[in-house]
Amino acid sequence: MAEQRQVLGDWKQGEAIAQSGRGLTWTDTAGAANGGNCYNCHQISKEEISFGTIGPSLYNYGKIRGVSDPASAAAKPIVEYTWGKIWNAKAYNACSNMPRSGHMGNLTEQQIQHVMALLLDPASPVNK
Ligand code: HEC
Repeated sequence: MAEQRQVLGDWKQGEAIAQSGRGLTWTDTAGAANGGNCYNCHQISKEEISFGTIGPSLYNYGKIRGVSDPASAAAKPIVEYTWGKIWNAKAYNACSNMPRSGHMGNLTEQQIQHVMALLLDPASPVNK
């Protein structure tokens, strides 16, 4: 895995990715960036009006886990778990309904870094 500090991208871009279902439907144009579709199964922020509940709420994800500095040694286990979960949810739970975004190539590493920031950056609306 990359140096821990580089694992977090920009939460604003992460939010756009999490809210986008692009790439998972037949109407998509080839070549457009895929979305993470996270909102379809998770609550992500307080502002959302509709979201799916197949997965647990991700609101306050980093805050609940006590992440005040995602680059710190203390945050390392949760950073690694979160990365692994988004990359390949079935590595932790073989029956997981969650798509294996990285493993299946739906999201790029950089897109996952942005989604990581959305979940773990204390400045992200997820942790407000
Ligand atoms: C098809 C539904 C679905 C989609 C889409 C989905 N997830 Fe999930 N997710 C789940 C389910 C179900 C669980 C809980 C069961 C499990 O562990 O797999 C979960 C668990 C998680 C967890 C672990 C939560 C915890 O408390 O340990 C994280 C983090 C997560 N998802 C992030 C994401 C992100 C980020 C995206 C978008 C890139 C996403 N999920 C898209 C269904 C989904």
